[in-house]
Amino acid sequence: MNVALIIFRAIVLFIPAFVANSGAVITGGKWKIDGGRNFIDGRRILGNGKTWSGYFGGSLIGVAAGIVVYLISLATGGFIGTYGNSFVSIAAGIVPMSFGSLTGDLIGSFTKRRIGIESGGKGNLLDQWPFALTAFLFVYVFDPQFFIMYYFYIGMISILVITPPLHRAVNIIGYKMHKKDVPW
Ligand code: CTP
Ligand code: MG
Repeated sequence: MNVALIIFRAIVLFIPAFVANSGAVITGGKWKIDGGRNFIDGRRILGNGKTWSGYFGGSLIGVAAGIVVYLISLATGGFIGTYGNSFVSIAAGIVPMSFGSLTGDLIGSFTKRRIGIESGGKGNLLDQWPFALTAFLFVYVFDPQFFIMYYFYIGMISILVITPPLHRAVNIIGYKMHKKDVPW
């Protein structure tokens, strides 16, 4: 299979992880995950930007996006690849990818707080890689065959390379649409 197709499939099938992040911005804002509490270093554990409504709402929006991608994969006869061919194998791709994405987002925020970056502050790769890497980890745990087929290793590297500029572009759009306070 040619490299362009491998990269194309890796990106298209990773849409749930990307969409989950944007979805959290839409549903977020209610029920702070850290309950407003501080960590032992006196800084917030996660901060006001991490809420249960964002975590679950965003993850479910990611799952919905995955279902759409799956339907498109059926319609295109598998050209874009597929999550699987049974309910369980499809779910084992989409669900861990979405929840892994927003779990990694929490890890990124936790790390940002520990190094003194306030909520909403620019984290650069900490805003961009933890969610992708955790999505990969979750997918690997729940569906190793799928992971190896699409993401080991060109797919994974491609995602890590395109995520920073993509993340930045989406956030600039979110900022222009007044959904986000800052363009990062
Ligand atoms: N959001 C949420 N819950 C989550 C993730 C995101 O409610 N689990 C919402 C919040 O309203 C958040 C916005 O989506 O402000 C943007 O998400 P993100 O950029 O990840 O959070 P930041 O506010 O920048 O906070 P941090 O510095 O911790 O990344
Ligand atoms: Mg942010």
